[in-house]
Amino acid sequence: MTLAVYPGTFDPITNGHVDILRRSLKIFDKVVVALAENVRKAPLFTIDERRKLIADALKQDGRLEIDAFQGLLADYCRRRGANVVIRGLRALADFEYEFQSAHMNRRLAPDVETLFLMTGEESFYVSSSLVKEVALMGGDVSGLVPAGVAAALADKRKQGVKP
Ligand code: COA
Repeated sequence: MTLAVYPGTFDPITNGHVDILRRSLKIFDKVVVALAENVRKAPLFTIDERRKLIADALKQDGRLEIDAFQGLLADYCRRRGANVVIRGLRALADFEYEFQSAHMNRRLAPDVETLFLMTGEESFYVSSSLVKEVALMGGDVSGLVPAGVAAALADKRKQGVKP
């Protein structure tokens, strides 16, 4: 069985992430969405909220698991027995960071390959930060994120959360 890990902050999941996940499930037997407790970002949604938003967006698929991890991705992959990390590549700006990360991860876990899938053209310039900013300022993000995410962002706005 080929187990792939799709790591990220997913704060929140966007339609671009959903597209990468659906395509990954055509390639791998099982895909684990691994929510990182990212130290570099201050997330708007808690891990539990993000987990639920992902589950709602993807409905039931027995080959998909949603998990969270702390620490190094390489260690997480080793613990899970995963040999592939999936990353979505958007505009050119992603390349340098992804290139560095893939090399560092290979150094840390030589048996784990990073596989890049090109993001769908409709999500090429979308990011979770941009979606949050627009939604929290009252802009329309439908079509960019799953319906549950749009509703959750609207709730945050009602609670007075500022971008
Ligand atoms: N469609 C739309 N947006 C996409 C996308 C797609 N297909 N793919 C990525 N993005 C966006 C995300 O929305 C996110 O936007 P944001 O920066 O505004 O939040 C951005 O691209 C990058 O997000 P993501 O793919 O979720 O990655 P990340 O940079 O948040 O997470 C980790 C990176 C978690 C994988 C990495 O930090 C990690 O592995 N951490 C663990 C610690 C570790 O091992 N460190 C050493 C790594 S070498």
